[in-house]
Amino acid sequence: MGKKIVVVNAGPRKGWNTDTLLTEASKGAESTGAEIERFDLFRLEKYTGCISCFGCKKEKFKGHCICKDGLTPVLDAIRKSDGLIIGSPNYLGDLTASFRALYERLVFQNLTYNADTPCCNQNVIPVLLIMTSNASDTAYLDKMKNYQQVLTMFVGPTELFISGDTLQLKAYSKTDWPWYFDGEAKLKRHETVFPQECKRVYEMGSTLIKLVSKKLPGTSRFIRLMGGVLFVDGDLQTGLELDHGSILVDNDLPDELSHHAFVELGDISRDGGCGVPEAYHFCIHQKHDRFL
Ligand SMILES: Cc1cc2nc3c(=O)[nH]c(=O)nc-3n(C[C@H](O)[C@H](O)[C@H](O)COP(=O)(O)O)c2cc1C
Repeated sequence: MGKKIVVVNAGPRKGWNTDTLLTEASKGAESTGAEIERFDLFRLEKYTGCISCFGCKKEKFKGHCICKDGLTPVLDAIRKSDGLIIGSPNYLGDLTASFRALYERLVFQNLTYNADTPCCNQNVIPVLLIMTSNASDTAYLDKMKNYQQVLTMFVGPTELFISGDTLQLKAYSKTDWPWYFDGEAKLKRHETVFPQECKRVYEMGSTLIKLVSKKLPGTSRFIRLMGGVLFVDGDLQTGLELDHGSILVDNDLPDELSHHAFVELGDISRDGGCGVPEAYHFCIHQKHDRFL
């Protein structure tokens, strides 16, 4: 059966930067047989961000936002999907209010206040997060890395794509701020660099689904190292004092990746093989180099 990818547009403008990149990423996913279900957040019924009802913290609703509004079908679809592609323009230094509304409810439903199992997500899926901005593609990198980290922890392994210095208008000369942007340079970039970015997200959309395929039953599973905490297929492995060096017995990770690494898991045995009592011994077949 084909894999299902949910695509979410958290920007309002049809045919512009965010919409176009999302469409290209969707085409990439479709090219590998995925079925796309798309939501445009600006065209949904009325919704809000998290209303702090704490319904999702009740045992019977664990992992489910119980607030019923325009975002409910989106959350339901993500919960049943094999991957998520989500894009937003940058508004005033952050992602849009629409993105934030979904983000709050998507993440908070999967967050518990239990130190042993801080995440109750039952459907760990790969995520591609796309952001477009007037500013350069590095201007908001720290903010985007923060989103990446939180989505990785509570939804699934997240990749970023940032398209900076975008064309915001066709005719800058008609505004009262032509002095602020070089409209010609923006247009040139849109005609030369943006098509390459479209190709890149197409590829990312197509590899997203390949990664999903690797999640099929078998030995292949996601493991995650987050700040010394280990998740296997989204479940926190408790009772482990992790030292990255001793876990990754065969493949040492560079320091800068020590808080954020994904590997495809081979065999696990509780044999203390890496010299740490009660530690798991990993045989790592393959690193996903797009995460490393
Ligand atoms: C309300 C508003 C606020 C914005 N704030 C920022 C900002 O703080 N930083 C930035 O780089 N771009 C900002 N932009 C520009 C957009 O992020 C940029 O043009 C984006 O590519 C638009 O996406 P779209 O073409 O898909 O609509 C803002 C645009 C709007 C409409």
